[in-house]
Amino acid sequence: MRKLLVISPDPLPEEIVRFLEQKQWAIAHALDATDALGLDAEHHFLVGLIVFPDSADLQLETRLVEQTLSLPNLKWVATLAHEQLDRLAIKRFIAERLYDFQVLPIDGARLAMILGHAYGMARIEHDYRHKHAAIYHTHFGLVGNSPVMQRLYRTLQRAAESDVSVLITGPTGTGKELAARAIHEHSGRAKGPFVAINCAAIPHTLLQSELFGHEKGSFTSASARKVGYIQTATGGTLFLDEIGDMPLESQATLLRFLEDKIVTPLGSTQGNYMDVRVIASTNVDLALAIEEKAFRADLYYRLAFLSVTTPSLSSRGDDIELLAHFFLEEITKDRRKCGLRFGKKALAVMRGYAWPGNIRELHSVVHHAAMNCEGDEIRPADLKIRIGQARKPKGNVAHRKNNVPTHLILGTLKSGRDQSEKHNLEFALERNDSNVSRTAQDLGISRMTLYRLMAKHGVTRSLPD
Ligand SMILES: Nc1ncnc2c1ncn2[C@@H]1O[C@H](COP(=O)(O)OP(=O)(O)OP(=O)(O)O)[C@@H](O)[C@H]1O
Ligand SMILES: [Mg+2]
Repeated sequence: MRKLLVISPDPLPEEIVRFLEQKQWAIAHALDATDALGLDAEHHFLVGLIVFPDSADLQLETRLVEQTLSLPNLKWVATLAHEQLDRLAIKRFIAERLYDFQVLPIDGARLAMILGHAYGMARIEHDYRHKHAAIYHTHFGLVGNSPVMQRLYRTLQRAAESDVSVLITGPTGTGKELAARAIHEHSGRAKGPFVAINCAAIPHTLLQSELFGHEKGSFTSASARKVGYIQTATGGTLFLDEIGDMPLESQATLLRFLEDKIVTPLGSTQGNYMDVRVIASTNVDLALAIEEKAFRADLYYRLAFLSVTTPSLSSRGDDIELLAHFFLEEITKDRRKCGLRFGKKALAVMRGYAWPGNIRELHSVVHHAAMNCEGDEIRPADLKIRIGQARKPKGNVAHRKNNVPTHLILGTLKSGRDQSEKHNLEFALERNDSNVSRTAQDLGISRMTLYRLMAKHGVTRSLPD
């Protein structure tokens, strides 16, 4: 049976109901939008029939039109009186929203045919969207075709083929964790566990027992034996997230493990070799942290046998649009809002925005727009981003300087607005290929000030891969 949602203030004529049921339609009758929304949440209709009463009640008509708009993803068919066709609002409604309509009196056979066509179309669109969404996932579960992403895929491939330690760096929200999982899933260890630890979240006093485990009674609160994260990850991959925020004393502990991969739980004398691959990630500039003695250089070299850099979203060109569509489909795939699309202006705004929070920010912006947008087209006003924070054009140095005068950047740096300060910093680094001296010169500040600002905002230089 095909499901049909009918919105009508009055019951449908008996004979029409019987006729449609004979034609394999199961009818759900809603008196108004609240009713209809509730029914749709449960049944996920593809087709709706809106029955305009044969009356001159304009208010009722308007209400029916609005109610139908609150369910934008169904193919709508309407039945209405001849006189209603003259009304501008109804004409617009027919032109913009309806799949088809029928003038009263209802002709059951024709109505069944129209509904059948509408259903056929809706099915095809629905299936197409689902299959289409699948083609995004082609490279290691990451979406993106831009040259910087192609380079990333090549590095991920190399990392997956080897078994050495990998260090993934990149700005916040650029997919470092996703990249780590991709390496694991395409490596010889794919069948083994992937164990992720947030290094910044574990205080040094706990780190040893968390990583290595402990024997019962090895310290006052150790009431039972505990298996450490490292042992849990044997045969698989240990992902050390936010390694740049690990306290120095913990770094020494970790380094000792990486040197021989021997784990001795607290309170035990027995050390065991653990077959674990380590992938670490951070958005802290480790080169800078090493210079400032906040990160051990020997640990860095142990971790970074292979370096992977996840690029900022603003450097990914057309991927911004691709990702936006991908997220929109993902968010709306329960079909409730599957007709939703981006308007041209919204796409232009997204292309021009700096995306300081990168892919995570894009995802949240698309999610917010999908949830709050009325109608079926996302407009700039639906995007929760600061349009003023546009991406600056890239180009040669002279050209750039013309477009982005130094005093403007400094003005923003001094303005104290953290987000744009951070963005300007990232942008200046990007246009100077992460060269600290040139970036400092470009901004008219000292290298020390630049380092300080970078540390303040957790801005990293992308390391060459
Ligand atoms: N190329 C991509 N395709 C699809 N989704 C992506 C892509 N890159 C990132 N994401 C999504 O963006 C979000 C952020 O990714 P992730 O957590 O891996 O970033 P991160 O670099 O580890 O961020 P942070 O530095 O803040 O920890 C996740 O929801 C992830 O699934
Ligand atoms: Mg992360």
